[in-house]
Amino acid sequence: MIDSTRDVGRVNRNGFASGLKELARRSAARMGRRAFRHNPVTLPPMAGALALGAEEERALRRVIRSQRLGRQAGPWGTPSECSALERQLAEYLGAPDCLLVSSGTAALHCALVGLEIGPGDEVIVPAYAWLTTATSVCNVGAVPVIADIDETLTLDPRSIERSISPHTRAIVAVHMRGSPARMDQIQAIADRFQLRVIEDAAQALGGSHEGRNLGTIGDVGCFSLQTYKLVCVGEGGAVVARDAGVMERMREFHGRTDGSTLSMNYGMSELAAAVGRVQLARVPRMLARMRGIKSELRRVLEQLALGRDRWIRGDVDIQGDTATCLTFFEATPGLADRTCAALRAEGVACSRGYQPGAADLHVYRHWDSIMHQRPLSPGGGPWRFAHREITYSPDMCPRALDVLGRAVEITILPQHNGRHVASIVRGMRKALSADLARAPETPIAASLMPSPAGGAGTTS
Ligand SMILES: Cc1ncc(COP(=O)(O)O)c(C=O)c1O
Repeated sequence: MIDSTRDVGRVNRNGFASGLKELARRSAARMGRRAFRHNPVTLPPMAGALALGAEEERALRRVIRSQRLGRQAGPWGTPSECSALERQLAEYLGAPDCLLVSSGTAALHCALVGLEIGPGDEVIVPAYAWLTTATSVCNVGAVPVIADIDETLTLDPRSIERSISPHTRAIVAVHMRGSPARMDQIQAIADRFQLRVIEDAAQALGGSHEGRNLGTIGDVGCFSLQTYKLVCVGEGGAVVARDAGVMERMREFHGRTDGSTLSMNYGMSELAAAVGRVQLARVPRMLARMRGIKSELRRVLEQLALGRDRWIRGDVDIQGDTATCLTFFEATPGLADRTCAALRAEGVACSRGYQPGAADLHVYRHWDSIMHQRPLSPGGGPWRFAHREITYSPDMCPRALDVLGRAVEITILPQHNGRHVASIVRGMRKALSADLARAPETPIAASLMPSPAGGAGTTS
């Protein structure tokens, strides 16, 4: 049997590498069927990486034997793993076509180029995303305009409308932590103002909104297949597009061409694609497991939150949530800190949404290069092309700072088995009811009340 406490300890000391390999080999490829004996819940939040195992080894051996490591060619004319994964992913998503790239960031870059966004254009990005969601906009010469989020932790439609100028060309909707953004409202705004919509579904492969797969609703959908994602190939990404012309432009831009177009080399390796094929096949099972766990934890949280100053993250579409975490808001940042510490003391893996002192590149305040309009070289940067003065300030998205400042996020992994879940529930009950008698330090912030924008009610 596995002693996960020892294994996880080694993971921490050795910078993850050897311990993670060991963990993956011994346990998680079997999706948690073998119980961890001790402290089972503090696994690193790397569902895809933890599932790496014998099937991936076989796939990699197959590629090595073929001697075709790059997509362009191999000595023996064996079929391309990249092409096979593109077909598999397009089919899974119900997309007309799919293009594999070297990262989620490359996917965003391709999307912007595919939609012909360039110097002087403005692109709306949410305050809660990932640094490169915004920097990829800069890297086509356009400027990111940062819009606020709401209790769904995704774009607030009212803030989008306030951010639109005559130069706005696109909105990047980010499905943060695997939960869908308000796609119906975002698309309606985009239609009204004739804007393009890029879905950053880097964290949300397998999610949906009103039955439509995330990534296939807007003009272009971008995915990341890196270490922390459900499908992990090390570094990798994918893009899908509604329009064949956009797809073609992205394809030209991403890879080696005949030299007739300006292009990059953003291709994925055959080794990564072979791993991706195995990992993608597991996604439906992983999602089912995580969704089951989340509804159980949610029920517990609702009991513990009854009559309390504690809210569960607003859901735009609970059925479409990938359920990679359970997020709730405390009344104040101080209470959120205490709750998070209490959960951790019980062995429940959790994190905070935003803490001023902790650098977290998901939160706009930490996007220094953008906040200070700092280009790589003097005189560079996209702001020189802007048609109006663009300014950023640390407090420009108060709702993001408010809700994230009070957010506590409990990690959910498909590797969590029955014992793990029981242990998380025990930890939650202990940590979250221990302070039942405490008084909130300040009254409940109005921002946590259900939004008049509608659609996503908060739950207490
Ligand atoms: C929301 C979001 N967008 C974009 C990216 C960029 O993906 P990658 O790291 O594969 O470049 C990430 C990465 O984790 C992300 O979380």
